[in-house]
Amino acid sequence: MHKLGIIGYGGMANWHHQSIKANFKDLEVVAAYDIDPERLELARKNGLKAYETADDFLASHEFDIVLVATPNNFHCDYVCRALEAGYNVVCEKPVAMSVEELDKMDATAKRTGHLFSVHQNRRWDQDYRIMKEAYDTGMIGKPFTIESRVHGQGGMVHGWREFKVAGGGMVFDWGVHLIDQLLDMVDSKVVSVYANLHSVRTPEVDDYFKLVFRYENGITAQVEVGTFNLVQLPRWYACGDGGAIVINDWDCSGKIIHTRDTVMNWEPVVVQTKAGPTRTMAPRPADTLEELPLPKVETSWTSYYRNIIDTIDGKAELIVTIPSVRRVLRLIEACFESDEKGEGVKTDI
Ligand SMILES: NC(=O)c1ccc[n+]([C@@H]2O[C@H](COP(=O)([O-])OP(=O)(O)OC[C@H]3O[C@@H](n4cnc5c(N)ncnc54)[C@H](O)[C@@H]3O)[C@@H](O)[C@H]2O)c1
Repeated sequence: MHKLGIIGYGGMANWHHQSIKANFKDLEVVAAYDIDPERLELARKNGLKAYETADDFLASHEFDIVLVATPNNFHCDYVCRALEAGYNVVCEKPVAMSVEELDKMDATAKRTGHLFSVHQNRRWDQDYRIMKEAYDTGMIGKPFTIESRVHGQGGMVHGWREFKVAGGGMVFDWGVHLIDQLLDMVDSKVVSVYANLHSVRTPEVDDYFKLVFRYENGITAQVEVGTFNLVQLPRWYACGDGGAIVINDWDCSGKIIHTRDTVMNWEPVVVQTKAGPTRTMAPRPADTLEELPLPKVETSWTSYYRNIIDTIDGKAELIVTIPSVRRVLRLIEACFESDEKGEGVKTDI
């Protein structure tokens, strides 16, 4: 039986608590520490032992795993303190505000010998797993472009996410997930990055960004996150030399269109459109195409904690490793550099 204590019992931590309660027999959330007395009161109401200081929480040893789920600027300090105090540590994403911070955390984990991982739960999202299945099994042939998007409409960034000092903004908030998925899926180095960040309605941090990067294998990846996109585009869109895939939203409607053959075995004709005649952009004859349903995948965010427990028990290899999240953070730093310079940057990520 493993026991977990939480630092920062806010919205996401409460989700961790309820999800663990509903899904695990060998993991129990038992304690919490928060700077906000109201959150401590809620922790008590939810059956947890609530600690009023971090020192008392860390000295208690009533649990073997610590989850750090505070705003991003406190991750590094709490992760290092929890590792030093003898705990295995899971940290919410983004793991750190910089590669420098992460290297400090990683060195502490290596020196103390405890498990250290990051809650990149969206590696188990259904839309991502469908995209990955299509990619891995060559359903669209050899991909040359992949677009990943999340569009909101509210035009609002909430609470601490509005502030730079807290690690706010959409690159850190959603970008970290979408970049993590793309690096997890495509096994190739990232050789260049172009990013443009905007503060459309949130003065201090980015509430919209577009990132384009190039893998060494030639694939172009695009990530777009916006909080004020009143017309929304699909969650995923990718093209390969044998077809294309679209996944519309988190409900995972969509389709794959692929060619029955790749040879030019029909007579191209000129079509008349409202924008003039074209042969190059004329539609392909329907009988050369086939529409396939999206592949079925079974996935659950609970796989994350299953892997943490099994790794601690020596029954599995850690899935969300520190080198994998370090690549994501390096790419995020390249985004900020590209935005600041107003040009693309060469990378070796
Ligand atoms: N993986 C995901 O899908 C996901 C989703 C949402 C949030 N998150 C991450 O979880 C973390 C928390 O986000 P949230 O949405 O729960 O925020 P939140 O504001 O709801 O919760 C943060 C909690 O931390 C507490 N806190 C603030 N400063 C503290 C300090 N110095 N010491 C102790 N407690 C402190 C606050 O009182 C609050 O209860 C962030 O890193 C965020 O990026 C991850």
